[in-house]
Amino acid sequence: MGIIFDEKNKIFTLHTHHATYQMKVDKYGFLLHLYYGQKSEGCMDYLLHFADRGFSGNPYDAGDDRTFSMDVLPQELPCQGTGDFRSLAVIIKNADGSYDSNFRYVGHRIRDGKYKLPGLPCVYAKDSQAQTLEIDVEDVVTNVRITLFYGVLEESDIITRSACICNAGTGKICLQKAQAACLDLISGEYDLISFYGRHEMERNFQRIPLAHGVYTIGSRRGTSSHQYNPMLILAKRDTTEDAGSCYAMSFVYSGSFRAEVQKDQFCQIRALLGLSDELFSYPLAPGETFYVPEVVLTYSHTGLARLSQNLHQCFRNHLCRGKYQLSTRPILLNSWEASYFTFNGDSILQLAKQAADIGIEMLVMDDGWFGQRDDDNAGLGDWHVNEKKLGIPLGQLIQKVNDMGLKFGIWFEPESVSEDSDLYRSHPDWALSVPGRNPVRSRNQLVLDFSRKDVVDHVFSEVCKVLDQGNIEYLKWDMNRSLSDCFSRHADDQGRVQYDYVLGLYDFLERLVQRYPDLLIEGCSGGGGRFDAGMLYYSPQIWCSDNTDALDRIYIQYGTSFGYPVSAVGSHVSAVPNHQTARIIPLETRGVVAMAGTFGYELDLQHISEEEKQVIQDQIQMYKQYAPLILNGLYYRLVNPFEQEVGAWEFVSQDASQVLVQAVKLRVHGNMPVCYLCLKGLLEDAVYEDTDSKKQYGGAALMEMGLPLPSKAEDCQAYQIYLEKVR
Ligand code: GLA
Repeated sequence: MGIIFDEKNKIFTLHTHHATYQMKVDKYGFLLHLYYGQKSEGCMDYLLHFADRGFSGNPYDAGDDRTFSMDVLPQELPCQGTGDFRSLAVIIKNADGSYDSNFRYVGHRIRDGKYKLPGLPCVYAKDSQAQTLEIDVEDVVTNVRITLFYGVLEESDIITRSACICNAGTGKICLQKAQAACLDLISGEYDLISFYGRHEMERNFQRIPLAHGVYTIGSRRGTSSHQYNPMLILAKRDTTEDAGSCYAMSFVYSGSFRAEVQKDQFCQIRALLGLSDELFSYPLAPGETFYVPEVVLTYSHTGLARLSQNLHQCFRNHLCRGKYQLSTRPILLNSWEASYFTFNGDSILQLAKQAADIGIEMLVMDDGWFGQRDDDNAGLGDWHVNEKKLGIPLGQLIQKVNDMGLKFGIWFEPESVSEDSDLYRSHPDWALSVPGRNPVRSRNQLVLDFSRKDVVDHVFSEVCKVLDQGNIEYLKWDMNRSLSDCFSRHADDQGRVQYDYVLGLYDFLERLVQRYPDLLIEGCSGGGGRFDAGMLYYSPQIWCSDNTDALDRIYIQYGTSFGYPVSAVGSHVSAVPNHQTARIIPLETRGVVAMAGTFGYELDLQHISEEEKQVIQDQIQMYKQYAPLILNGLYYRLVNPFEQEVGAWEFVSQDASQVLVQAVKLRVHGNMPVCYLCLKGLLEDAVYEDTDSKKQYGGAALMEMGLPLPSKAEDCQAYQIYLEKVR
């Protein structure tokens, strides 16, 4: 049983396979957090410390007990108005203009199954795999009621959190801050791991010791952003990949967010994750409710590898959906870096023919097939096929591609509009913009007001008209700018627009998923600008970065791997010199790096030599052979490329009998020391055989001293070693 309520002591205990989460309704009805960590029996309220702390508020009903202060106690839902002066999860502006709330426990329910959130993506599970705890807290003055949701996926070591805020009062209130998860850690020295970046260089790994103050990351861009990923890890100072305590928090949401980690005056840590409170003020009329997007929590006491694996398995098994949730994705050739906007039906068919000859399984026609879209200045919003450019109706083009034995995929950017488009000319008010001001342009385009249902309805029907023209099996959903000018002509309060926009986006995606259940959607936002758990609910893969340079991808994919499964990582082999960095990396290496993802190509095969074609054919066969292990195996990071001049990772089958090691030595130096790669997750007593060289190795030795990588003469040479347990 995952969730236990101790009636006498009013203690909730949430057990997962390896962790315990505990909280308590205290004598005043406050919901205090007691513990999250290694699985443990017993009552953890001995951890609470009561002392008279100067300048810390005391609730009125504590009487003259100055030792009771919400400024010090660990909590589940810290709110403005209780005397807690730390960063808070919820701030509500009440009908009388005040900002104070005082939420106290009024009841709870425990049931089998995982709660759902209307209109929002969230983790799902069978009733036998999860339990839900709902705790109601209420403010007696305003009658605002918050239901806190806890989803416990015991076997997966996952706890999810969300909340529903209901205005059960008589006046209009306004949410000023709404964050689903607060994690108060009462003791310990922690590092914060977060993932920063930029367009073409997303999710760089950063680990810093937490010092006093508040460390904040977030996005006010309306999307989760390239700049900071909406997930974070707290790790005890001595935690490594293989040992030590760590916590992950991942936001299942694709819009603006804020994560705050505070080390308070008594050295306690508070981590908050949820909606950004900037550009946010959400009105709730009496009777209205608001759902706070979900945060996924996981804990590992055996290091970061396990922490990531928990998230990988949760997202693969309980967040991604559809035909391709668990299956191997078609190996694709994307036209973008092959021809950008310069193509027609014939050149697409040529590309398809070459792709088919070489064993590629799907052709994706990227940007440029619609409206007057010959560069990135025009045409967005006009989702009708430019048959003049293609020289062939779309249906026929698709049929011809299918006749070659290839699937067909297509690119869309439904949320955007070019000023130079028929859509904008007829509906300028459909773009987000502030009346009387010129909007901010980015990539010379504007963003449609997806907080409006009529706008979403229109674009949805236009997209469907295209999808219905033939056998389209893949859709790349792009979004190439951040939101600004967040003003909707229909909104009663502009502070709701960013959130409602994301609801509109999810509504569109959900309709798409329902209408085309077999369609493979690949999320994209200038590469990995919206690489978040929210999008994974609709698209089981996301284009990881517009940077296809294999060396840079080693860093990008390393950072991405902390929070997201390999099956979500869109990665392609592209031409050299690389279009983003001008770097020349061997084709073998580009293949190995792209294989740590959904695998595909993004180049013009006409410019490839016969030898290279052979290499590509071999790569395709190899990927097909290893894909089940790559996608379903346990993923281990072997080296941190930010610290060493090697990129190396490993896939191990669940029973540890198959092992695939992929590595790239980034730099060679004169008279190099040998690089020994210590493997992970093997059976200590087993013997493994390298299926190429037939050399045999003991599992323990491979993990203890490692596998020597033979020296190679150039930078960025790749290694791929497949080992099988022979006894
Ligand atoms: C974005 C995507 C690219 C490509 C272009 C097309 O940048 O990330 O892969 O689709 O848009 O304009």
